[in-house]
Amino acid sequence: MNNFTKLGFIMATVGAAVGLGNIWKFPYMVAEQGGGAFVLIYLFTIVFVGISVLIAEMLIGYLGRGDVGQSFEVLATKNKYLWGKSVFMAFTGLFILTFYSVVIGWIVRYIFLSFGSLPVGIENSKELFESFLSSDFIPQISFHTLAFIVVAFIVIKGIKSGIEKANYFLMPVLMLIIFGLFVYSISLDSFSTSLSFIFNPDFSKLNSDVMLSAVGHAFFTISLGMGTILTYSASLPKKTNIVKASFWVAFFDTAVALFAGVMIYAFLFSYTSEANSGPGLVFISLPVVFESFGVLGNFLSLIFFVGLFFAGISSAVSLLEPVVMYLIRVLKTSRAKAVIYSGLFFYIVGILVIFSSIDSTKEYLTWGDKNLFDWIDHITYLLLPLGGIIMSLFVGFVLPRELLINTMKNQMNKVVFNVWIFNLRFIIPIALIWMILDKVFS
Ligand code: PFF
Repeated sequence: MNNFTKLGFIMATVGAAVGLGNIWKFPYMVAEQGGGAFVLIYLFTIVFVGISVLIAEMLIGYLGRGDVGQSFEVLATKNKYLWGKSVFMAFTGLFILTFYSVVIGWIVRYIFLSFGSLPVGIENSKELFESFLSSDFIPQISFHTLAFIVVAFIVIKGIKSGIEKANYFLMPVLMLIIFGLFVYSISLDSFSTSLSFIFNPDFSKLNSDVMLSAVGHAFFTISLGMGTILTYSASLPKKTNIVKASFWVAFFDTAVALFAGVMIYAFLFSYTSEANSGPGLVFISLPVVFESFGVLGNFLSLIFFVGLFFAGISSAVSLLEPVVMYLIRVLKTSRAKAVIYSGLFFYIVGILVIFSSIDSTKEYLTWGDKNLFDWIDHITYLLLPLGGIIMSLFVGFVLPRELLINTMKNQMNKVVFNVWIFNLRFIIPIALIWMILDKVFS
């Protein structure tokens, strides 16, 4: 079996976790959802919910040693067939990939833009970005195709020579870029404004919407509830300390989000006091800020978007792997074919996602107040917590107690173990069910 090394596993899992969610989504969500209060709930969720589910998901893969469906089936003591249906989670990744790959395409476009003249003034920049989204479908499809090829290439090479190897390169470079930009941003006068924007909670802004977005985002950002972590953990070397590995993943993921958030707002506030620019934050506002730095700005823009591209690719790879593992087994096919089948699905739906923003076609791909892109994003934020509930209940109630205790006894003391199980059995499912119902019926 082509197992990860321990370090390779951490790299790949951090690579899965650290993605567009940290550098593109987190910063604009902070502004949209009222600043520090959102950050506080998000951090709270990572610590009290995220890490517990992360350990549970890793454990299922580590003990089950199969793809998503297989691991549940092997470990379930009864209702194996039903638990095997948890394999739907693997398809959540494919679903996310449809828009994820499109956004990676936008990033490629901004990498090219960094070599030329960056937009001057927010209005110009907004027009540039919006016209790209609403009319330039050929470049968008080309960049989406490029993202598809890179992702397919890495996944075809497999766990060890594809995913592990790619992450050994992508992760350190990404961390260096984000940290380097962060250190540079300290020299800006606006650094302290950014810090207080991110860390000063204004509790009057806290409402159930903010809380739900924070919980949903916590799942998205550490890649929980769709079987990525489970699938990677099936290739973990025996005797890995799962608890430690989970802490590292949560730590790096949170650190990158916070560093990126503070850095981006330090840059932004050096130019304007307007924080809320939604998903266009890194594509509309940041290039204008970089432009005001002259040639240095082109360089900053280039490394920022290259970093974002690396973050996107390492996560995109992890979104595809669960379904590929599953298809290899059920279709008894080669890895290459499994990648092509699943890849073509996200590639084609991705093209529809692109057309759902194009002026002349969007009316056919819009239902209610959302186009296809927004629907997929919206549904994802429901599917991941649903996956989280299933994993929590499975470890909390179904895994034999003996097996649990034997596996975890060297990794947690008794009190922590009991708190963890209680959390998985009751607190997490109740909180997540409440969250899903609220989102569906609001
Ligand atoms: N965690 C990734 C991000 O923050 O961009 C996205 C993601 C990857 C979600 C893999 C879920 C997943 F399984």
